[in-house]
Amino acid sequence: MRKQKLLIVDDDEDLRTQMKWALTADYEVFLAEDRESAIAIINKEQPAVVTLDLGLPPNPAGVEEGFAVLDHILDAYNHTKVIIITGRGEKENALRAVEKGAYDFFYKPIQLDELKVVLRRAFHLSQLEQEQREMRHLLSGNTFEDMIGTSQKMQDVFATIRKVATTDAPVLITGESGTGKELVARAIHRLSIRGSKPFIPINCSAIPENLIESELFGHEKGTFTGAHAQRIGRFEMAEGGTLFLDEIGDLPQLLQVKLLRFLQEKVVERVGGREQIEVDTRILAATNRDLEEAIKNATFREDLYYRLNVVKISLPPVRDRQADVILLAKTFLDRYTSEVRKKIKGFNSQAIESIERYSWPGNVRELENRIKRAVIMSEGKKITAEDLELESNLGKKEPMVLKDARKMLEKDLIAKAITRNDNSLTKAAAELGISRPTLYDLMEKLGIPK
Ligand SMILES: Nc1ncnc2c1ncn2[C@@H]1O[C@H](COP(=O)(O)OP(=O)(O)OP(=O)(O)O)[C@@H](O)[C@H]1O
Ligand SMILES: [Mg+2]
Repeated sequence: MRKQKLLIVDDDEDLRTQMKWALTADYEVFLAEDRESAIAIINKEQPAVVTLDLGLPPNPAGVEEGFAVLDHILDAYNHTKVIIITGRGEKENALRAVEKGAYDFFYKPIQLDELKVVLRRAFHLSQLEQEQREMRHLLSGNTFEDMIGTSQKMQDVFATIRKVATTDAPVLITGESGTGKELVARAIHRLSIRGSKPFIPINCSAIPENLIESELFGHEKGTFTGAHAQRIGRFEMAEGGTLFLDEIGDLPQLLQVKLLRFLQEKVVERVGGREQIEVDTRILAATNRDLEEAIKNATFREDLYYRLNVVKISLPPVRDRQADVILLAKTFLDRYTSEVRKKIKGFNSQAIESIERYSWPGNVRELENRIKRAVIMSEGKKITAEDLELESNLGKKEPMVLKDARKMLEKDLIAKAITRNDNSLTKAAAELGISRPTLYDLMEKLGIPK
């Protein structure tokens, strides 16, 4: 790894040489003896840390020269950590420098061991800040609401969200599990004029069929056993705002009719009620099912589908967002590292490789969970492929699932050929179109007993 840059500004030549000797193993050390040479090096090398003696020629007894260097750094390179080196009698000046923005101060005569500790801290902080800046830079323009995505597909999704947010049209959000459907729904709501009104989600697959009607539409008192009081349904709760129907594919048929009616007439009827209640709520729906297939199987109404599907947002699976996967991983790493206050510095190269190769069947949610767990389990400075439990995936060209499937298929074919040929390996090999030794190898590799 490249050494970080340290500039030592001091007019005492012996001291400069002594410090250079002591520190050169850890840092790339530059030396300057006055204001001009210091500024020249700062501009050229942009050292992360500078130790600065305030008394420099032509007036080594004063502090103006040192302050001029400090001012230049603070103006031009305010990330640089400046450590003021000062005599015991000059504490006031040192404090003034810290007030202006110097990182710390240190008394002469210099105790090298102590200085090393101060330097290490300064460099560490500088590096952390640098990483944060890079992260922020990386993220700027690549995030949209709470979503991350530089890939073209996600950028297209963001553009559609922006457009539909200004309308009241229903939106159907599709995508595999864990691709961010709910995040999209919340973003549409937040960006719409309904943003300050309620966002009411309901998961149609999580509520028992006999309860979902009253959950959605409410009921009047005494309508059924247990209906002790009148109850407002989610439609009415979402008045002025947005109703998010998650897993819409699981909505029972009867309720599909009622929903269709709402979409056409903007009214709801509580269970057991006769009143038609006008409700102003926008419908967003999500599904990870293939609704067109459900229509063919007659489990989902076609007319409802067309009503909901005015605008469709399809979220790509993570395996089709190669441009995003590392960015997502780093964001989650950052988030969970600061949550548990561990000093994890990133992913090692194998971890990066395994993240890029894995097919992420559980999509963003799986990525997030694996990283969360890895942060908790990790004992080193960098997250490894093992921490992510992706190590078995390394060195393989294909995604795990395909590889496994192939193995199973091979095993099955070979076992059947052997049985069919009354355990004659020669005949089985001939039938499979491979040589006998190859068959032996395969049997051993696949764990087929001879
Ligand atoms: N583009 C993204 N950037 C950052 N985080 C994301 C992104 N997409 C999804 N997530 C996170 O991944 C997790 C799953 O997202 P979400 O619940 O929206 O998915 P979903 O498609 O609704 O999943 P399911 O079908 O399982 O309900 C959440 O923690 C969410 O914050
Ligand atoms: Mg969801």
